[in-house]
Amino acid sequence: MLQGRAVLLGISGGIAAYKSAELARLLIREGCSVQVIMTRSAKKFISPLTMHGLTGRPVYSSLFHDHYRAATAHIELAREPDLAIVAPATANILGKTAMGIADDLLSTVLMAIDLEKCPVILAPSMNVTMLENPAVRGNIHTLEARGFLVADPGRGDLACGEVGKGRMAEPLELLGLIKKRLLGGRDYEGVTVLISAGPTREALDPVRFLTNHSSGKMGYALAGAARDRGANVILVSGPTALEPPWGVRFLPVVTAEEMYKVIMDNLPGTDIIIKAAAVADYRPVEPSGQKIKKAGEMQLKLVRNPDILREISTRKTVQFLVGFAAETENLQENARRKMEEKKLDMIVANDLGQEGAGFNVDTNIVRLLYKDGSVEKIPLMSKIQLSHLILDRIRKHRGTETEK
Ligand code: CTP
Repeated sequence: MLQGRAVLLGISGGIAAYKSAELARLLIREGCSVQVIMTRSAKKFISPLTMHGLTGRPVYSSLFHDHYRAATAHIELAREPDLAIVAPATANILGKTAMGIADDLLSTVLMAIDLEKCPVILAPSMNVTMLENPAVRGNIHTLEARGFLVADPGRGDLACGEVGKGRMAEPLELLGLIKKRLLGGRDYEGVTVLISAGPTREALDPVRFLTNHSSGKMGYALAGAARDRGANVILVSGPTALEPPWGVRFLPVVTAEEMYKVIMDNLPGTDIIIKAAAVADYRPVEPSGQKIKKAGEMQLKLVRNPDILREISTRKTVQFLVGFAAETENLQENARRKMEEKKLDMIVANDLGQEGAGFNVDTNIVRLLYKDGSVEKIPLMSKIQLSHLILDRIRKHRGTETEK
């Protein structure tokens, strides 16, 4: 299926390097040409000879000592592939790539790759505590926000004897990701997707506001995934700590009323609307112009905010409408009711009670409910993987809608 495609396989120094041999073999079997670059420490884990034997090509590892290439080898190596994958990606290579450090061949080639032309997949592999280290997590976020695709590491026994998250994604899973990027890559070309994300803030006074725990991660992941698949993406976002994804039209807002206005202004011309935002249902009747001073008991008077989704459903023309439902009880019934009331084509139901689901985590566990009454239970996966799955389902259901 991948006949004639060129893949650059970067291997950095981790126990999981042995799995890269299997990945190379799978890629070759699919008809790819595979160019391997190994870091110095990778060679301590697996022999370059093994990789040479499997790929039929010499393995590169140094900026200066591979004599058969010119001084600009790193540029050539960055220009040649249709896709690059770093598997395993250690904390070190993730950190260097995030921070713009190029001190060996692999980090230099990664810096010279144009992500618009050549997608890069990073497959982290490390001890669970290292993976949870804020520096590593921050680097992974930075890389994802810049357009790198991170293959979520699996849970299980780790080489260090601990049990937890940190195992490199399995070769077959990586092959699946590669195929998706190379074959199914641009299936949203020419489609305009409007996504709302994050919380809204409703001012009480100049220093205080009402809001919720939404981090914006799900909406931003959807925006990045839709952009990667060729969509024109409009991201309307409440205040979050995330970097706006590159290549999308980013429209920041603060309040529900602002979000309402910006979405309505941008409604014409959109094909798909995904409302991942956690919109505040109420706002203070009259925010105080001055800081409210404490004095005994206090009563807050709130008024309803517009229900943006409901309003869209009354005005929409051809748009495919996707909502989210965040629930702490009766997940499916509540989600189904919201879908019917707001006349949605599909709703993503989030069970906030489950570990690994909902606010401020990088994973989610959801159920997808469709207008035709069907339901799909989706297991725990990264918000990026889930985004691609949601986009797959939208395509499928939107296709059948258009055929009707
Ligand atoms: N939503 C919206 N405008 C609002 C409230 C919610 O567009 N004022 C959208 C959200 O973006 C989400 C969906 O409606 O896609 C469901 O949001 P949720 O807060 O779960 O549901 P509500 O309808 O507000 O119901 P409740 O708060 O009573 O659970």
